[in-house]
Amino acid sequence: MLPLNGRRVLVTGASAGIGRATALTLAHAGAEVLATGRREDALRDLQAEAGAQRVQILAGDLNDAGFAATLAEAAAHVDAFVNNAGVLRYAPVLELTDEDTAWMFQTNVLAAFRISQAVARHMVARGQGHMVFVTSIGAREVFRMASVYAATKHALSAMARAMRLELQGQGLRVTEVAPGMVDTDIRASSTHPEVLASLAARRFAPLTAQDVAQAVRYALITEAPCCPDLIELRPQGAA
Ligand SMILES: NC(=O)c1ccc[n+]([C@@H]2O[C@H](COP(=O)([O-])OP(=O)(O)OC[C@H]3O[C@@H](n4cnc5c(N)ncnc54)[C@H](OP(=O)(O)O)[C@@H]3O)[C@@H](O)[C@H]2O)c1
Repeated sequence: MLPLNGRRVLVTGASAGIGRATALTLAHAGAEVLATGRREDALRDLQAEAGAQRVQILAGDLNDAGFAATLAEAAAHVDAFVNNAGVLRYAPVLELTDEDTAWMFQTNVLAAFRISQAVARHMVARGQGHMVFVTSIGAREVFRMASVYAATKHALSAMARAMRLELQGQGLRVTEVAPGMVDTDIRASSTHPEVLASLAARRFAPLTAQDVAQAVRYALITEAPCCPDLIELRPQGAA
């Protein structure tokens, strides 16, 4: 008997990085995963690796409200939701553009909140559900050249805590998983020379996507009334 046998889980951002590792880890633990992201080919690779009986896929852009509504309907039956999709661009605070700011706030805050609300409505109607928000160490601290990204993660953390506060009485459990630097491609969109120099000067090894996936797995294996509210993961040696 696997620990998540019979559990149905929606994972956003499952085409790469932390979301992909999480979808695979949960599938290996027995869950039926609905995996989403924009890149359908990457989702198909994930499905081929996990097996179609373990991972279903639905590709689309979470910034598209129509797709978010379709996804929420497809996920109306899930027991758990890993709200993971996100984007990042590091740059000096005076050099971030309106486009950078809008892109990060739209994806990390507005789209993340819209899909959370839609999934939470179904969970509340069924009187149970577990939501895991992947925020960041940057949800509580601010690092140089990460101003807007940190602002989006502070906002997402506030939304996670608000959902717990207002909906725990209706059967919802909410966990925030807040990693420090993880070895994924998310920083490929940050090309400012000062950012690249700072990343090159780093003296610690980042976490792996698998480290974060294990934290999500732990959160989902706990049983009500226990609820891990916040799991922070920091690379050893990081500030
Ligand atoms: N890596 C780190 O150091 C780190 C640390 C702390 C927290 N986090 C957080 O962890 C989460 C995952 O990050 P990661 O490092 O795994 O990044 P990643 O490898 O770049 O993966 C990001 C995922 O989000 C999806 N995504 C982005 N925009 C989307 C959109 N508009 N619609 C649908 N899906 C979208 C991407 O899929 P498509 O491109 O296929 O759409 C991809 O699957 C993010 O919320 C990030 O802020 C990361």
